[in-house]
Amino acid sequence: MSTGTTKLDVVVSDVVPVNELVTRFHFRRRDGQLLPTFSGGAHVVVEMRDGERTRLNPYSLMGSPLDTREYTISVRRDDVGRGGSLFMHRHVRPGMEMVISYPVNLFSLDLRARKHLMLAGGIGITPFMAQTAQLAAEGGNFELHYTCRTASLGTYADVLRERYDRRVRLYHDDRDERIELDRLLSSQPLGTHLYVCGPSGMIGWVCDRAAALGWPAETVHFEHFAAPQPGAPFDVTLAVSGKTIRVGEQQSLLEAIEAAGVDPPYLCRGGVCGQCETNVIAHDGKFIHNDHWLSEQEHRSCKKIMPCVSRFEGGSLVLER
Ligand code: FES
Repeated sequence: MSTGTTKLDVVVSDVVPVNELVTRFHFRRRDGQLLPTFSGGAHVVVEMRDGERTRLNPYSLMGSPLDTREYTISVRRDDVGRGGSLFMHRHVRPGMEMVISYPVNLFSLDLRARKHLMLAGGIGITPFMAQTAQLAAEGGNFELHYTCRTASLGTYADVLRERYDRRVRLYHDDRDERIELDRLLSSQPLGTHLYVCGPSGMIGWVCDRAAALGWPAETVHFEHFAAPQPGAPFDVTLAVSGKTIRVGEQQSLLEAIEAAGVDPPYLCRGGVCGQCETNVIAHDGKFIHNDHWLSEQEHRSCKKIMPCVSRFEGGSLVLER
């Protein structure tokens, strides 16, 4: 069994459209027991069985960690992605039986912080739903700044404002409202930790400014899941398993390896945790590295690949798997 991928048999207990792009899904255990405990920032990997094909996508848990009767996730529809979000939106209905992983937290709160400064962009709000619930229950000091394209796409903005009032600040792109980042980062009390989740441009901007303004790296936390991208099919030889497989256009390399009956480790399936790191034995072609785990130097060396998000173009690829 892969690391961190112990499975839970669940039933979909509710499906709630949130706005024109986002739908919320509720899961309960099939055996009626409570679900495992989790902490704010955790995610689960949802298995989507779509005919012959199984997709596994990670989603942040957004309910209160104090209530494990059900898990909730929110899925933003991506019309040009590989189909996972469309499958959830089109096919998942209340009463459907599904399999999800145990929760894993790669974006946990540092509870030593005297204050938690949270910056969310778009659907990046979801881990903060659970984190703010956790902090509110524990009497933690937090402030959330949430940017969204329009008020109608401000997923859960109303809920958050109602729950936490002035601890939540909203910014709407269509009204040209922007976070005054330097001022915000420069005016925090000592012992503040910074958390950011949203589009990669936003994460890069916030992390760069925090570093430039002297925030210690250990106080800056970010959730940077990359969705696997479609691309041209390619062939891979798995040297340890003695198999040669084809990675389809809409398939990730990790999914193709799994479909061949090989069970590689993974946690995030989004290029950030390092679990799926795989050695390259030989190659003749070009790597398309999409992860946030390997260094630039490691990307250039072509000696490793993160199969959950990265692809290959060219003649031949042999992996130590
Ligand atoms: S599974 Fe986390 S980096 Fe690939």
